[in-house]
Amino acid sequence: MKKTIKELLQTAPESQSVEVQGWVKTNRDSGSLSFIEVTDGSCLAGIQVIAESELENYATDVKHLSTGSSVHISGLLVKSPTKGQDVEVRAEKITLLGTADPETYPLQKKRHSFEFLRSITHLRSRTNALGAVVRVRSELSCTIHRFFKERGFFQVHTPVITTSDCEGAGEMFTVTSLEPGKFAKDDPFAGDFFGRRAGLTVSGQLQAEIYALSHGRVYTFGPTFRAENSNTSRHLAEFWMLEPEMAFCDLDCNAAVAEDLIRDLAAGVLARCADDLDLFNRFVSKGLVRKLETVRDTSFVKMTYSEAVDELLRAEEKFEFPVEWGIDLQAEHERFLCEKLAGRPVIVTGYPKEIKPFYMRMDDNGKTVAAMDVLVPGIGELVGGSQREERLELLTDRMEQAGLDLDEYRWYLDLRRFGSVPHSGFGLGFERLVQFVTGMANIRDVIPFPRTPGSAQC
Ligand code: 4AD
Ligand code: MG
Repeated sequence: MKKTIKELLQTAPESQSVEVQGWVKTNRDSGSLSFIEVTDGSCLAGIQVIAESELENYATDVKHLSTGSSVHISGLLVKSPTKGQDVEVRAEKITLLGTADPETYPLQKKRHSFEFLRSITHLRSRTNALGAVVRVRSELSCTIHRFFKERGFFQVHTPVITTSDCEGAGEMFTVTSLEPGKFAKDDPFAGDFFGRRAGLTVSGQLQAEIYALSHGRVYTFGPTFRAENSNTSRHLAEFWMLEPEMAFCDLDCNAAVAEDLIRDLAAGVLARCADDLDLFNRFVSKGLVRKLETVRDTSFVKMTYSEAVDELLRAEEKFEFPVEWGIDLQAEHERFLCEKLAGRPVIVTGYPKEIKPFYMRMDDNGKTVAAMDVLVPGIGELVGGSQREERLELLTDRMEQAGLDLDEYRWYLDLRRFGSVPHSGFGLGFERLVQFVTGMANIRDVIPFPRTPGSAQC
């Protein structure tokens, strides 16, 4: 493979022959000379190419190279005499690979709104900001795998199609191969592909628990789907979730892993994505780098749900949703706690059992469960997790109260019948993490192909 522009920019300019492959960002023609900036997505910066009018296709192609056209250039990498770049390429041959008609190519050199870019999902990754999101997202994903590998975790691939609604919130998309009108009245899915109702997973947790009880430390990281009709800047119908699950680990241990991970991720992007973060810091979210440094360098604040409610009641803030013990915290409450009260991420534990799913471990008070949410500035809930109920009888009671069919979840109860141990885990919404790290306001701009109510492009 030829060198990327990132690699070329790091190469010592000893007048060596190089090849540049990429897309024209800008082309300034000064009559006898063209200054062409070429990018290839490998880094934020482009490389400057100097083309002289002696080139054989100067008048026919080079002079007219327009934004977005693709080129192959061979030439000499030299030290740049002018400010703005360390090295540049003196072109010896320029081949125009593909044109991009300036009349119709939507990405001319000017700032486009993220909203407009959403209408061209197939081209937006060529812009500076959306291109930077792609690199930061990839870096975060690599860091996650490295983090867990270093701590002895195994990655488990949990199913996309499942018959268990983990969160019990009725937000599963149904998967069917039946034609409309072919559903039987009494048992609609009996004649369907799986012979029973199946859907797209809302969480890989229940399956991850199986493997935590054989391999100790595992994680699953994949797409999850929720048919919730939330048209907000932090909800998607298809999003990626990271879910570690750990045997012999209580709620404190769980919270410590979540905190270590988030701080490690902040440190990782600060160290390895400096140019991209600088772009976000200047044009998208002022103070972003400072915020990430705080996350990297300071420990999170911990409080119980009851303490959080007290703080919210004491606050002089006007909330849209009234606060009382028992409510599910809304984004405005979560953001108040971490942005105004703590000024850094907050871990809230011990939520009322009524607002949390059946699998969370009951606290001794009989009112709260061993749940934890990690709230971060600018986002609110980034992580939701818990210690799981490992006691067969208590779990069975909770499942009955939740109206679950115990026969369908027999396998889950078996994990408590045979060698049950204390265990816990959490789910980190990957797009919310990318939002947090880049400061991008809308979750639709941090996933390549957003799926939201009424919208699915490509
Ligand atoms: O809090 P949630 O619903 O937790 C679970 O699904 C657990 N089974 C996880 C576990 O313990 N293994 O979701 C976890 C995280 C949330 O904190 C949020 O960051 C993200 O997933 N999330 C969403 N992200 C984007 N769009 C949505 N519709 C989301 N719903 C949840
Ligand atoms: Mg949650």
